[in-house]
Amino acid sequence: MEQLANQITALKEEIAAWNGGDAEAFRIKYLGTKGIVKNIMGEMKNVAPENKKAAGQLLNEFKIFTEAKHESLLQVAEEQSTAAASSIDFTLPGDNIPLGSRHPISLVKNKIISIFQRLGFAVAEGPEIEDDFHNFSALNLPENHPARDMQDTFYISQNPDWLLRTHTSSVQVREMEKGKLPIRIICPGRVYRNETISARAHCFFHQVEGLYIAENVSFADLKQTLYFFVQEMFGSTVKIRFRPSYFPFTEPSAEMDISCLICGGSGCNVCKHTGWVEILGCGMVHPNVLENCGIDSNKYTGFAFGMGIERITMLKYQIKDLRLFSENDVRFLKQFTSAV
Ligand code: DAH
Repeated sequence: MEQLANQITALKEEIAAWNGGDAEAFRIKYLGTKGIVKNIMGEMKNVAPENKKAAGQLLNEFKIFTEAKHESLLQVAEEQSTAAASSIDFTLPGDNIPLGSRHPISLVKNKIISIFQRLGFAVAEGPEIEDDFHNFSALNLPENHPARDMQDTFYISQNPDWLLRTHTSSVQVREMEKGKLPIRIICPGRVYRNETISARAHCFFHQVEGLYIAENVSFADLKQTLYFFVQEMFGSTVKIRFRPSYFPFTEPSAEMDISCLICGGSGCNVCKHTGWVEILGCGMVHPNVLENCGIDSNKYTGFAFGMGIERITMLKYQIKDLRLFSENDVRFLKQFTSAV
């Protein structure tokens, strides 16, 4: 009996010291059908009857001890394998994430904004879903006015008074309504028109409009402001000219052309052999518009202008088809890195 007890003590020490990770080798050696536990159990038959109870307890306890060790070896093995599966090798080279570039419309829009900001213009924004008053009526375009035909748009069926704005002049109205004068703002944003999509027209495009209202603002201020803009945008050799035009919200109204960037004025396909390309509409704010927005037209005068960003971008980069801007073709889009 004493011998058995000593044998078990020695085996327990051996087992406790086992730190080879191999749980299966341990199982075969100690718990297998020909293993040590089974073997030592066989010793029971040699134990004297009066010691059998104590020996049985001893052997049973030894068996439990050995099984517990096996369990812990299995657990360690499992922890190691999950850690290996989820481990990240930080020495591997990283995935290449291609760098995007700004959309040419955004580049040119930002450039336009920065030019006017240097002249003291603040950026104003407004909703793309407008009501009739802000988009048309306040701008001297009452219902049934023939000039509305040129700006047919999309109406919202829930409310016949709602529409997708046709120009950002609606933001000018919202700004004038606030009644804080003087006003010196530019209004960049997306606008909509019911147009058949072609190389030169789209059902949505982008505009920057400008508005300056104070005392004694004159057409000369308008000309000088736009002249500065053109020189900053297209370079100092570009010439400008104003042609009389008509807009319901300005009087007098004009369209402004720049000398053709392609042929320098001698005549080519882009300028239809005139040497000039139109880039914007402008004029002195009509007194009716000022009054519609609660501004005293005897005290204040102002000028306004509006341009399509697509048009400026097409001229700047010599892009021939407007549809390229909204096709999301990365081969086209990644060619533009700066507006300068
Ligand atoms: N709103 C006009 C359009 O979209 C452009 C325009 C012309 C705006 C003259 C103005 C302006 O502010 O004074 O066709």
